[in-house]
Amino acid sequence: MLPDASTAPADFVWGVATSAYQIEGATTADGRGEGIWDRFCATPGKVRNGDTAEIACDFFHRYRDDIALMSELDVDAFRFSISWPRVQPAGRGRVNTRGLDFYDRLVDELLGAGIEPWVTLYHWDLPIALEEQGGWPARATADAFAEFTQVVAARLGDRVGHWLTHNEPWCTSWLGYGLGEHAPGTACRRSALAAAHHVLLSHGLAVDVLRRESPRGEIGIAVDLYPSHPATARPDDETAAVLFDGMRNRWILDPLLRGEYPVDMVEHYGGDVPPIADSDLRRIAAPIDFLAVNNYSRAVVRAGSDGDAPVEVHVEGAEYTDMGWEAYPDGMRETLVRLHREYGVTALVVSESGAAYPDVRGHDGSVRDPERTRYLQRYLAAVEDAIAEGAPVRGFFVWSLLDNFEWSFGYWRRFGLVYVDYPTLERVPKASFSWYRDRIAAARAGAPRSTSSPVSATSAADGPLTAAARAAVSG
Ligand code: GCO
Repeated sequence: MLPDASTAPADFVWGVATSAYQIEGATTADGRGEGIWDRFCATPGKVRNGDTAEIACDFFHRYRDDIALMSELDVDAFRFSISWPRVQPAGRGRVNTRGLDFYDRLVDELLGAGIEPWVTLYHWDLPIALEEQGGWPARATADAFAEFTQVVAARLGDRVGHWLTHNEPWCTSWLGYGLGEHAPGTACRRSALAAAHHVLLSHGLAVDVLRRESPRGEIGIAVDLYPSHPATARPDDETAAVLFDGMRNRWILDPLLRGEYPVDMVEHYGGDVPPIADSDLRRIAAPIDFLAVNNYSRAVVRAGSDGDAPVEVHVEGAEYTDMGWEAYPDGMRETLVRLHREYGVTALVVSESGAAYPDVRGHDGSVRDPERTRYLQRYLAAVEDAIAEGAPVRGFFVWSLLDNFEWSFGYWRRFGLVYVDYPTLERVPKASFSWYRDRIAAARAGAPRSTSSPVSATSAADGPLTAAARAAVSG
């Protein structure tokens, strides 16, 4: 399904990831239109503390300073997304040139600093006008997305080498339309399934457009995956784990990588599954150049009392991050190896992994976050284990460069390598920032992997990811 990995660049890509709505602010600057998240934030009770993204990290005005921070980290790549309402304020039709100009400047500034732009086209900020015409549950939104892709790629396609059509189709469709936790806040299973189909279809349409407009660009999609484990060995818990995997992972992976929806899940969802044409499935499964994986945790599930919906359980003695997600690095290894073995994926990138902790500034103004460093050390070790098992992993992006607007959690959750003091917008690199910088340098230098990597400070002791990844890609 994917082209031969030997066409992939030989070097392991070290990066940091962000998204437009979470960092840019400037929500009304230069003709930007309203998006579903602006509306959601303005609706009482939807976002914690009534937080909005009007200012966020003010990346829109401070991107040059933030690129200087990336240069200090010495990352190869920066993953960011394009705000659709900035580019097409009414969703379709008129293009707001000033909105596109911002991304044009950003791309040039990155390239000037020797940092590769990795562009996500859709990271959840749908123009409100499109939502008012039905949003993702409406098929026309897929066509609108192809149009938007055309506009962006025509402007940036000569300089952007890596494209991600969507970020987390599952979250767009289920958090937005099935569970109502994200914008636009709809809670309806039928809508979620229609949304998921149209998001996937729009991915296929966008791949076609990008092949034309950015012929040298590599194209992928970022999917969020959670290994699903049964809480006990009881058969009904095992069945629940298979069901959870179907809902959370296979419903997205199977159409993308195999051109079919999983039969057990089609049966499970029954009459709520939208009519699906074979031609749609062929489009959805259009060959891509890499699959991008967001992985933070796993799910441990037991059978629900009604024998239907699986229930997630807390794991006794496990470590949890501030999001309430279990830190489970082996799930990263399991996911990457599965994609390689079960789905035959020949090029993988970890497009997000990271952790929220309740960071505070010390008396000297610094931020010490040993938990985050430890989390990243363990997850990177798991990526190395996956590579050793043959998974063709080509890059790793930490979520996130900056503390930012964490959706319905507002500013309450901090994922950054850089602390943002929201009242002043001052940036304070955390201890994990120095650690990541040293980790990248050590990987490039091919330092031997230490068996016991200290959690503290700025040790550069662990692993030669670069060398391992090169071997995996060229082998
Ligand atoms: C996601 C999104 C990010 C989040 C991050 C932490 O994966 O949900 O891509 O926007 O901020 O994952 O929740």
